[in-house]
Amino acid sequence: MLTSGGDCQALNATMRAIYKSVRHAADEPVEFYGFEDGYKGLMYGKYRILQQSDFNGILTIGGTILGTSRVPFKKIRKPDENGIDKVKAMKHTYKQLDLDCLVVLGGNGSIKTANLLSEEGLNVVAMPKTIDNDLWGTDMTFGFQSAVDIATRAIDEIHTTASSHGRVFIVEIMGHKTGWLPLNAGIAGGADIILLPEIPYDLDKIIDVIENKKTTNLNGGRFMILAVAEGAISKEDAKLTKKEYKEKLKNSPYPSVSYELAAQIEERTGREVRVTVPGHTQRGGAPDAYDRVFASRVGAAGGRMIVKGEYGYMVAYKNREMVKVPLKEAAGKLKLVDPNSSIIGEAKLIGISFGD
Ligand code: F6P
Repeated sequence: MLTSGGDCQALNATMRAIYKSVRHAADEPVEFYGFEDGYKGLMYGKYRILQQSDFNGILTIGGTILGTSRVPFKKIRKPDENGIDKVKAMKHTYKQLDLDCLVVLGGNGSIKTANLLSEEGLNVVAMPKTIDNDLWGTDMTFGFQSAVDIATRAIDEIHTTASSHGRVFIVEIMGHKTGWLPLNAGIAGGADIILLPEIPYDLDKIIDVIENKKTTNLNGGRFMILAVAEGAISKEDAKLTKKEYKEKLKNSPYPSVSYELAAQIEERTGREVRVTVPGHTQRGGAPDAYDRVFASRVGAAGGRMIVKGEYGYMVAYKNREMVKVPLKEAAGKLKLVDPNSSIIGEAKLIGISFGD
């Protein structure tokens, strides 16, 4: 087993369920190897044999007992700084330890590497991890709901101070290139405006809402809360090429889009604007009850696949059931928020603006 990419809540809960379900179902004793710090552990043969005690008490503990790291997929075919071929090295460790299968708990980049290793002949089973919930082929990923809870709490706590000062607040929410996290936390936290990468915003529309022209804001606009995705983008910027936009961000005096937006709102409305960034707190702490249940189900479904020898798949959640999707289908595709989906429509019906 290995945990790869950005950590999240419920990695440990998932590994515990894999261990329990495999031990429960297998006819003979099974040895579990835990690779340290993600694919790096597999590359450099850094592992430990996991005992029952390793899994004891970890259902409720965030982070990962194995450690994790990011090994970008675009560099996976390139040798490391010592000239070691990374793919060859991973295959070598796998063969040398005579493993039956490799279990990868990972998000988008990690699933691409899992697919590559599967194509290279390794028996791979993957589990859908990420607070971003952006993995194609599954309705849900573990970590997401816990992160929604934390981001929601951040928005909740801004309400009193925003109200006292009558300020406009931007809460910048993670999610990478997708808006699942800010969308859900924004609705749950009662934000007035939610900005997502999938719906480029028009600054004029945002100003209109803040100036209370069209708002259904229940406090009459005394304070305003914007839940802004870290990947939010204006309509103007969305017209730029990827390269031009990257260049713009690189040369921007602002640390992120939220700060640029705050300056623009302040200038246009004369109101005091503050930015709050909960950042990595969204990935921290214990998994919530939803994630503990979900991770247990993911791990159990994965454990069943391992015992049955069903390799080359990612565990996925579809229509409330645990299913499996071929790695080659899941790898490399982002699951985006559909601007025409029902949840966006319902949010608009209660007066939430998406700045579009
Ligand atoms: O993919 C999870 C995530 O937390 C994203 O929401 C965020 O953009 C990114 O990871 C942050 O990465 P890092 O932990 O490497 O700063």
